[in-house]
Parts: sequence; structure tokens; C-alpha cells
Amino acid sequence: MTLYDLVAPGLDTCAEPRYRITEIRDADPLGADALLAALPAMNRDADVAALTVALRTLVPDLDRVSEWCVIEALAAMRDLGMLLGSLKRHGVQPVAAVPEVLPVLEELARRTDMVPRDTVHHYTTWNPLGPRQRMYTGHEMEAHLQEAVRMVFPSLVAALDTCGQLARLEPYDPGFALALDRTAQHVQAMVDAIDFTIANVSPSYFARTLRPYFEEVDVAGRDYLGPAAAQVPLWLVDLTVWQCDRPHPGYDAFLDESVEYSLPAWRDFHATHKGGVSAVSKLSAALSWETVHQLPPQLLASAHSLARVLRILKTFRARHIGIARKAYSDEVRLYDEGSGGAPVALLRSVLDLTRDNETLVRQATERPRPSAA
Ligand code: HEM
Repeated sequence: MTLYDLVAPGLDTCAEPRYRITEIRDADPLGADALLAALPAMNRDADVAALTVALRTLVPDLDRVSEWCVIEALAAMRDLGMLLGSLKRHGVQPVAAVPEVLPVLEELARRTDMVPRDTVHHYTTWNPLGPRQRMYTGHEMEAHLQEAVRMVFPSLVAALDTCGQLARLEPYDPGFALALDRTAQHVQAMVDAIDFTIANVSPSYFARTLRPYFEEVDVAGRDYLGPAAAQVPLWLVDLTVWQCDRPHPGYDAFLDESVEYSLPAWRDFHATHKGGVSAVSKLSAALSWETVHQLPPQLLASAHSLARVLRILKTFRARHIGIARKAYSDEVRLYDEGSGGAPVALLRSVLDLTRDNETLVRQATERPRPSAA
């Protein structure tokens, strides 16, 4: 049994409707099952006329939209989103082609308190499994990439709690190391997901076939990014562990854009912790006050737990940059930037920052100290 199996069923009884994964997957408020089963064939044939008719057919009356609960509204956005990305892939701005979709996208955004297009969560976690699974290409590598992202959602939800606890604790508290150890378990899901991706998704399939479906689309004069894995909010963990008080122009700009594509509670978490003191800074300060040769055991435990989380983050990023470099190499790439709007160079910077913080924490505990005279 994986961590996903343990955490995911618990989410289904949550008060937060966006965590009720099974209900969202089951919902088909637009009656889109049959039409979306034909989507891979329409995309294969680049049948823009059929895609346009399909989008027009699915657009619901605004009166119906206003009666939907959040769960139905999320499912409707998921299904319209598949057609938005498909039309754009074939060179058509979907809202220009089917203008009546605009007020619906805006109303769905308002009802769900999210951006007015589909996100990575619509495309993966909230996407049904089995014969109802929505896909652009129907290729098994697309299903594998969706599965990889699906694997991490419950862990990131759980990490939100443990990182929230971390932010309230000091390195001398026993809870500090405990919150970090739990966070480490959750972040391990990212490593498992990227290993699964490397084993099952070829960089050239991603770069040449799938990436074009994640282009941005224009909604009321603004470009909104596609449902790309880069929107997976690993920043939820970075924030309280090392990032909130360590500014970096490139990563900060990427985060400012990514946060908008996340869930309301996660955006609140970002706003709450943005100006806080990170675990790395708290630990550095505590270590600098210690002049004794031997560190108090609790402080040492906190340092080891913090280094472990940073090491797992680093492992994810080191493996992830490997597949990203291949997909964006000169030989295969169709685009200069990732679907999240940033180049591979950003991944290098974030990996370096993660590694620098891990080294800082590790070395701080290894540093020779003056013995208490
Ligand atoms: C073929 C597979 C993949 C490729 C080629 C790829 C490529 C990229 C690129 C180029 C970026 C930079 C930002 C941007 O897209 O604009 C990025 C960011 C990111 N990707 Fe991926 N990615 C892949 C799969 C995944 C998977 C499966 C996950 C998670 C389960 C993931 C999680 C992330 C995260 C969290 C970021 C933000 C930067 C960070 O936190 O290090 N990616 N990816």
C-alpha cells in the first residue's frame, strides 16, 4: 500500500469540496463523456471544425452554471478545458472561435474561486479513471504523465498541514523535527512520481506530441497557462522550509505566476507564510547561538530532519531536470519555454538554491565548535 492509498480516501470525506476527488471525477454535469471519448480522434485528424462544434455543444446555459455546486463546476471546467487546449493546439483561440464560452468560463472561475480555465488539477487529479478518462491524445504515455501528477496531490495536501505546523514551531521544540519527518514522507511522493515519469514517458513524446496541448489561451484579453505539471505546487513545501525569506528574482517571479493557478486554501497559505521566517533561517539562528561543543540533542534532531527534507527536494529536482533537459534540448524541442512559462534554466536555479540550503544545514551541524571552557 502506498502513501497515496492511505491519504487519498480520507480526502473524500473532507469539508473542502476541491479535495473530494472521487465525487469530482464521477461528475459529468455537461454530459460530456461520449463527446470527450472522441477527442483523441478529433485531435489526431486536426479536425478543427469538429472541435469547434464540440465546444459549442458543451457550453451550458449560464442559469444552469449558477445552480451547480463547486464539485460540478470543477468537473465542467475540466471538460471544457480539454477542448480549449485542443483547439489552441491546432492554432485556434478557443474563446474567439466560440465566444459564448467566455461568460461560462468566468462564472465557473467565480464559483470555484480559481482561474477562468482548467489547471493541472482538472487535467489529472479531478480527471476520471478508466473509460471516462479525458485525454488529448489517448496515448498511454499521456495517461502515465497524468498518473504521475495524480500520485502527488494527496501528499501535497498533507504537506500543507505539516508545513503549517513547522511554521509555528522552533527548532528546540520536539515537534519541529516531527513536522519535518512527516513532510519528508509527503515529499517522497514527488521523487516516486518523477521516477515513474522517467520510466514511462519519453521526452520526445512529451516535447513533440503533448506539450503543444498545454499552450496558453486568451480569456478576455489575458493569457492563461495550460494544465502543466509545472503548476504542481511544490512551492507549498519550499515556502516554509527555506524559500519565504530567501528571495530569488527568477523563482519569485515564477511563483507569483504559479500561485494563481492553485486552490484558494493554498493561495491563502502562500499569503500567510510569504513574509515569514523559514525553517532554515530558524535553525541557522539557533545554531549560531550555540557555543557549546555538543549541540543539544533536540537541535541536532531538527537539523538532521531539515537536511533530510532538503535532500529529498534536491533528489526530485535533480531527476526532474534530467527529463526536462532532454525534452527541451535543441534536437527535440518545439518551444523555448516550459508550459509553466519558464525555461529549463529556472529549474537549474531552483535546484541550486535547494542544494545550497541543504549544504548550509548539513555543514552547520558538522562545523567544529569551541568546547565549553
Ligand atoms: C516529461 C515530463 C516533464 C517535463 C519535460 C517537465 C518540464 C518542466 C519544465 C521545463 C519546468 C519549468 C517551468 C515551466 O514548465 O515553465 C518544470 C517545472 C516544474 N515541474 Fe516539470 N516536467 C515534467 C514532469 C513533471 C512531473 C511529473 C512533475 C510532478 C509530479 C513535475 C513538477 C514540476 C514542478 C513542481 C515544477 C516547478 C519547478 C520546481 O519546483 O522545481 N514535472 N517542469
